[in-house]
Amino acid sequence: MGRVAVAGASSGVGKVIADALATEIKHEYILLSRNPSAKPKTVQVDYSDIDALAATLDKYQVDTVISALSLATDEAGQNQANLIEAAKRASSTKRFIPSEYGSRWNPETWAIAKDGRHRDVPPMPTYQGKVKAIRALEDSSLEFTALYNSFFMDYLGVPHIPTDMPYAPNVFIDLDHKFAAIPGDGTASFVATHTRDVGRFVVALLDMKKWERFYTVHGSRQSMLEAVKLAEELTGSKFTVVHDSLEKLEKGVITLTPTALKMYEGNDQAIGLLTQQLSLFGRWLAQGRMDMDISLNSLNSEFSDIEPLTWLNTIETSLKK
Ligand SMILES: NC(=O)c1ccc[n+]([C@@H]2O[C@H](COP(=O)([O-])OP(=O)(O)OC[C@H]3O[C@@H](n4cnc5c(N)ncnc54)[C@H](OP(=O)(O)O)[C@@H]3O)[C@@H](O)[C@H]2O)c1
Repeated sequence: MGRVAVAGASSGVGKVIADALATEIKHEYILLSRNPSAKPKTVQVDYSDIDALAATLDKYQVDTVISALSLATDEAGQNQANLIEAAKRASSTKRFIPSEYGSRWNPETWAIAKDGRHRDVPPMPTYQGKVKAIRALEDSSLEFTALYNSFFMDYLGVPHIPTDMPYAPNVFIDLDHKFAAIPGDGTASFVATHTRDVGRFVVALLDMKKWERFYTVHGSRQSMLEAVKLAEELTGSKFTVVHDSLEKLEKGVITLTPTALKMYEGNDQAIGLLTQQLSLFGRWLAQGRMDMDISLNSLNSEFSDIEPLTWLNTIETSLKK
């Protein structure tokens, strides 16, 4: 069995995946980083040098690359595309997991993207980078799979459930302040999964002999109204509930939770950025784009010994503090 390489393990999802690999102690692995690091197993790489990247993958006999690059910029998207190209060239590399870890796009969207017309893909670099990666993998002989977990539960669990996400504002439901800012009417279902469980499922994927093109994982699935109702029942408190209409969200306006406002108190830039990003994600949530068919290629079913954190667990943990 060859080695695993995790790209982008200095922070966020990549760090969680690296921690899960370290806990599992079953797979040999290296961590690819743009920078030198004191962290054991780190190998410094230059993503702009594809031949050198391929040589690194061969040097360490990497058979599986797990990308968790941030994709927040066009440069990062191109760097992931270069990593895929390097994996294609490396004779030791056979499998690739691109940096997805979010909402599942419907096949129609992919088909449109395959035509080179990205009109249904959000104009953010992140999603352009994701489409670019899937297209490059489809055009390769690498075996690949994308993991869809939808929304990170981390943002609902702040500050009660530890998270490695470098940017983790509390959003939508604020358990501490018994407050909910619901995008739209709150009837659309959404899926939420904690990053810690995403890491565990990614490592579990390594044991599968053959991969489907995508897998789903989930912690919980319910509507915002149901999520608030459960929080009210378990806490025994009535929540203050604000609804942000789709029209309001389309204008880039959204209600932030008291905990989020406290986290970024005095930092107007951070509050502005959060408002801008969250109004888009809020709109997606209200439109049901953070929902998915959790029975489809479900790793929860495949690996039933992994018990992911649920919304109920999150509320219960918050009550213990
Ligand atoms: N579902 C959700 O709610 C949700 C939320 C957030 C993110 N995500 C997804 O999760 C994935 C990872 O995001 P993240 O927030 O975990 O990332 P992150 O913490 O911002 O960055 C992860 C790593 O990417 C590397 N990186 C950053 N910029 C790079 C560049 N220009 N070129 C190459 N490498 C670069 C860095 O590693 P080095 O410095 O060591 O090279 C960094 O540690 C993305 O696909 C993102 O869309 C999903």
